[in-house]
Amino acid sequence: MTSDPYAAARASAENLARLSGQERHDVAVVLGSGWAPAADALGTPAAEFDLAEVGGFPAPTVAGHVPLARSVLVGGTRVLIYLGRIHLYEGNSVHAVVHGVRTAAAAGCKVVVLTNASGGINPAFGSGQPVLISDHLNLTGKSPLTGPEPPAGYGPRFTDLSQLYSPRLRALARQANPSLPEGVYAALPGPHYETPAEIRMLRTAGADMVGMSTALEAIAAHHAGAEVLGVSLVTNPAAGLSDSGLDHLEVLDVAKQAASRVGDLLRAVLPRMIADGSA
Ligand code: HPA
Repeated sequence: MTSDPYAAARASAENLARLSGQERHDVAVVLGSGWAPAADALGTPAAEFDLAEVGGFPAPTVAGHVPLARSVLVGGTRVLIYLGRIHLYEGNSVHAVVHGVRTAAAAGCKVVVLTNASGGINPAFGSGQPVLISDHLNLTGKSPLTGPEPPAGYGPRFTDLSQLYSPRLRALARQANPSLPEGVYAALPGPHYETPAEIRMLRTAGADMVGMSTALEAIAAHHAGAEVLGVSLVTNPAAGLSDSGLDHLEVLDVAKQAASRVGDLLRAVLPRMIADGSA
């Protein structure tokens, strides 16, 4: 990546237009661990390409993360899907972590949908439960806005996050599935899972779910002018809340089983995200 993350996003957006054959996209969807079946539920891709060709992305290091992107038409909405994401815990810079959403915004996306797998802290959320993210605790110690003064077209350096997870988009999702609960997502750097003491602390601090992604991307997407929808799939009880320990392969497995249902939900909501007023 060049030293200017905003210029890098513009360059990648140009590559994206060439690779996808779409000059612009409307909505970006970032799929977390084990979520590939959700991409299939969104329909047949018009184009699929390697993120390496888009440029600016480091090589992924995690099993279950495929470094591909797809361009899919859902209704009349041009959807850019990232199959897999860049994590801080792979040793990447915060700018690399948010490069995908900045590229999406530079490619025209007015909505960014962030999905993830999480540990359930709220006892009401069992494994396999999708939850709309209402807010987050960014405990990564990082901000994607660190660095040069943002250029024209972006929000200010001291950006307001009072409504980071769009109430409008959450209402649309609940119209499609009224039983969807909402919760606060705590983002930790990982890659180790939490200790039971950390989970008790997070519960006291108001967290309902815990994971290792999403918060930084949400901040960068909002700062780039996009509306953000976050959907967290609870894949396990958080540390100390069940008799067994945590296993990454089980996390991937639960995500894989529930992902296509969440893909169906997204397919129902995506065409209305733009038509209902943000474009
Ligand atoms: N903790 C952190 N990240 C996670 C978890 C968890 O319990 N489950 C899935 N991602």
